[in-house]
Amino acid sequence: MLVSGDPTRYHVRGAIGVSRLHIGVIGCGSIARHRHLPEYAGNPRAEIRAVCDVVQHRAAEMADAYGARAYTDYAELLRDPDIQAVSVCLPNDLHAQVTVAALQAGKHVLCEKPMATSRQEAQEMIEAARRSGKLLMIAHNQRFMAAHAKAKQMLHSGRLGAVLTFRTTFSHGGPEGWSIDGAESWFFRKAEAFVGALGDLGVHKADLVRWLLEDEVASVSAFASTLEKPADVEDNVVCVLRMQSGALGTLTASWTHHPGEDNSTHLYCEHGVMHVAADPLYQVIVHYDNGDTERIEAGQVATNESQTASGVVDEFVDAIFSGRESAIPGAEGMASLQVILAALRSAQTGRAESIDS
Ligand SMILES: NC(=O)c1ccc[n+]([C@@H]2O[C@H](COP(=O)([O-])OP(=O)(O)OC[C@H]3O[C@@H](n4cnc5c(N)ncnc54)[C@H](O)[C@@H]3O)[C@@H](O)[C@H]2O)c1
Repeated sequence: MLVSGDPTRYHVRGAIGVSRLHIGVIGCGSIARHRHLPEYAGNPRAEIRAVCDVVQHRAAEMADAYGARAYTDYAELLRDPDIQAVSVCLPNDLHAQVTVAALQAGKHVLCEKPMATSRQEAQEMIEAARRSGKLLMIAHNQRFMAAHAKAKQMLHSGRLGAVLTFRTTFSHGGPEGWSIDGAESWFFRKAEAFVGALGDLGVHKADLVRWLLEDEVASVSAFASTLEKPADVEDNVVCVLRMQSGALGTLTASWTHHPGEDNSTHLYCEHGVMHVAADPLYQVIVHYDNGDTERIEAGQVATNESQTASGVVDEFVDAIFSGRESAIPGAEGMASLQVILAALRSAQTGRAESIDS
């Protein structure tokens, strides 16, 4: 229930009076196995009580591993009164319907990115959270990476001045090396994924740029192609972004980076240049226009090959217990989604596209 007069405060029905939040994880694929399940298991205020996957043996395996009940139908898990909060770790086309159903069933929801497949779906999710008074958080984990937090702190200390231009990239070898279904993955099918590398990786960078610059994207020009994968979604996209401040930048997302990965961001500012996650040793490097250089070991940025604790689950659990809005509520997920929706439109029309307001 929303506390009247303060839309950012929540009463946490169900969590009050219990020492541990009872969790259900819906989808037992790669993101659930690498991040959600181990991070809930590592959080002393959370207890995994149920898991769900349409593939029965995946649900059974995770239920065994975490001492939870196994479901193959998410609707049944949502009817379980013992469950207070769920993670939605499903293919993109299911995010909205499962999230709305979970909120209507009175569960808090941590939903994976991209939040939804359309602005309308995102709005329905936000509205369902408002009506239920339950928390809706979107798992944009780039914000919690130590290098990005450090970069943001340095950027806003003022010494660098305004960001004038930037380039940000997220690329790896493709979801066949990640998804639990390998080369047969839903990631390659438009009906389930709705978008390719842009939604898998580009949305992370859209979110990062908005958050890092504390600025909104005004318009986007994009080219998208399927260069390598047997997919009916793009495996590469190159976008040019114009921010509301006037800053210009490029955002690229690729599933054809062989070997390795690139998760870097470069900011060209009035008084210097900042390189983030571009050097294996120093995750933040700043060259100032007076000749000074700072090199900071801020902690590794997570890659598919090298997973680090995301911070997302801990933030979700803490926000519920604290009765506060999360760091990444539905409206933030929707704003980042809208950047990739505009990029998709631009790739189709061949024109720059404004963000829908
Ligand atoms: N935040 C991140 O860094 C990050 C990284 C990777 C993936 N993701 C996101 O996480 C989500 C899941 O991706 P993944 O990599 O785990 O995919 P995956 O292919 O590894 O796993 C998906 C799982 O969902 C199950 N599933 C499909 N339909 C279902 C249904 N109706 N009910 C229950 N289970 C169902 C499948 O059987 C499979 O086990 C996607 O939205 C993806 O974009 C986020």
